[in-house]
Amino acid sequence: MTPDVESTEGPKARSDGRPIGLGIAGLGMAGAVMVQAAAAHPGYVLRAAADPHPGPRQAFARDFAARTYADVSELCADPEVEVIYVATPHQFHTPHAIMAAERGKHVILEKPMALTLADCDTIIAATQRSNVWLIVGHTHAFDPAVRLMRTMIASGDLGRLGMINSFNYTNFLYRPRRPEELDTSKGGGILFNQVPHQIDTVRLLAGGLVRSVRAHASVLDPARPTEGSCMALLQFDNGASASLTYSGYDHFDSDEWHFGLSERGAPKQLSHGAARRALESVKEETGLRTRNYAYGSSQAGLPPHQPHFGITIVTCADGDMRASANGVTVYDRNGIQEVAIPPSPGMAGRHEVLDDMLAALHHGRRPVNDGRWGKATVEVALAILRSAREGREVTLEHQVAVDDLSR
Ligand SMILES: NC(=O)c1ccc[n+]([C@@H]2O[C@H](COP(=O)([O-])OP(=O)(O)OC[C@H]3O[C@@H](n4cnc5c(N)ncnc54)[C@H](O)[C@@H]3O)[C@@H](O)[C@H]2O)c1
Repeated sequence: MTPDVESTEGPKARSDGRPIGLGIAGLGMAGAVMVQAAAAHPGYVLRAAADPHPGPRQAFARDFAARTYADVSELCADPEVEVIYVATPHQFHTPHAIMAAERGKHVILEKPMALTLADCDTIIAATQRSNVWLIVGHTHAFDPAVRLMRTMIASGDLGRLGMINSFNYTNFLYRPRRPEELDTSKGGGILFNQVPHQIDTVRLLAGGLVRSVRAHASVLDPARPTEGSCMALLQFDNGASASLTYSGYDHFDSDEWHFGLSERGAPKQLSHGAARRALESVKEETGLRTRNYAYGSSQAGLPPHQPHFGITIVTCADGDMRASANGVTVYDRNGIQEVAIPPSPGMAGRHEVLDDMLAALHHGRRPVNDGRWGKATVEVALAILRSAREGREVTLEHQVAVDDLSR
């Protein structure tokens, strides 16, 4: 059993109201989206970025008149960078988060926090030693619709929470991959990449404390030998349960059932099987990855609808609810009611990640998605893997509760 690390009171609040200097480690797909989110957020100024590839570095430097580095250690030494968003490949999450913390930078760390509970503990310990804030995200638990459903559950208006059904069918496994992304032992496959969004979401909705997991996972394509689909039943301490279903095999696309909208909330051309077909004729697929930060990409229009991750249906004693295109739909004894969410002032989901870091820095408010929360989500992902491999229920030991129901 890995010992839990005690939480501290957190760093001293900063009250001068200046925009926070943000640095980006990894200007790939996730980095590019966060750059767009930060560029639209008045609380931040993009100061610097690090990536081994010169193309995205040059684009970022030109767009923001900012400094760039080939190595994350140089970014960590930049005196104008106060917060570092770590969006490098999984194997670098632990060293880069520790490096940033040791240079006194607050850290936003992409999911999965790490690949082992021991590494999660090492990261938590480093942030505590340096007295810096840590947020693990983005995940879709930051989506405004998920937060609204959490508030509605906590209000008790729909009665006791019974169960949550989360399912998502995508083309995940057939997006161009590096070899390690198809190797589960190196963090490949859906359990480290996609299912953490679902785990974080249902943990937030149900209060955080997963008691046990029973799961089944499949490797259905021997040419891509990592888990591409899974079903898991999570039981919570409070009696609620959640079922998670994910398939990344590019057949059915569940966005067909979510108003034809993409994960980030833009109208989407559904193209079943297209990602598989695109790979059939290529010998070396990593060359097809073209999702790095590019000139002007931070100026692209923001999605017109709310982000989502598949379909999430929440069942309470007196009604059901689900995320909709622009809010939350409630189904109860009075029929159907739409609760609208005001349009986001920035990129919904990522904006909330940045807001939570500001709330920590300016008001000392501990984020829900801190290191212990991120570790608890990794614990559930590892338990799903273990339950599927061993064919048994797995009990959990490092879960943490949502401590502020109003978020
Ligand atoms: N929250 C989300 O919705 C979301 C979406 C996509 C990816 N992610 C996460 O973000 C991380 C990156 O994924 P991605 O899809 O952007 O991958 P990617 O391959 O598109 O981008 C990774 C970037 O990191 C750079 N890089 C590699 N080694 C580096 C190093 N040592 N130092 C600095 N930069 C380095 C690469 O050149 C590349 O530009 C992963 O952990 C992934 O799970 C999260």
